[in-house]
Amino acid sequence: MTRAMNDRSRLLSEEALTKYRIELLVKGTVVIAPQMLFTQDDLARIDQLQTQIPEEEVRLGDAGDSHNVFVKRVRVDPPGRPPSNAHGRATGQIIELLERKDRSFALKKILGASSDYVIRRCQMHRLPPGSFVGIHLDAESDPDFDYSVIVQLARDFEGGEFVVYPSAYEQQVFRPPLGAVLVTTCKLRHEVKPVHAGERRSLVYFCSKRSGANRRNIESSADDL
Ligand SMILES: [Fe+2]
Repeated sequence: MTRAMNDRSRLLSEEALTKYRIELLVKGTVVIAPQMLFTQDDLARIDQLQTQIPEEEVRLGDAGDSHNVFVKRVRVDPPGRPPSNAHGRATGQIIELLERKDRSFALKKILGASSDYVIRRCQMHRLPPGSFVGIHLDAESDPDFDYSVIVQLARDFEGGEFVVYPSAYEQQVFRPPLGAVLVTTCKLRHEVKPVHAGERRSLVYFCSKRSGANRRNIESSADDL
């Protein structure tokens, strides 16, 4: 295989995968450069498929946290039930794209898995000016979430930084470019700062080693985010 063959060959670079693996281990979060996991064609395909999915506004997270974000459900993970694709053909086609063999292989290397990961939940996020995602812990939505994977689908926006809080005294601020993929452990609190201008769009999915029913217990049902 020649290096210049196509973008896909970069998915298989052992050297790059190891570098990202180490950074994820050390920091709990890593940004994978554009074109490594998703080519421009992949991004265009996601953009096209997501137009077929209905959108809802979410203002309350699983833990009573505050949000203001527009969400399209691709795969849902309700408490007490196994994950399932949301209604419509496009949702299955997006999951198929995410689970393509070379991409799953590369991601598995970065996550340091010996067994396969399953996508438990997947959704599109759209944040017009004034929107934000309040501080939360993904593991509160599903205790079996291991990593969240966030694919950046927009470039012309201001604000909307992804901020991770490894402890009460530290914060890591990320501004991933279009096509970059941010991977973070679901065990760290994080937020998306308010968008000031333009529109921030992303595809978010949550990977787990467990495929059974969601083991989260809830008394009252809140909008899932
Ligand atoms: Fe999150």
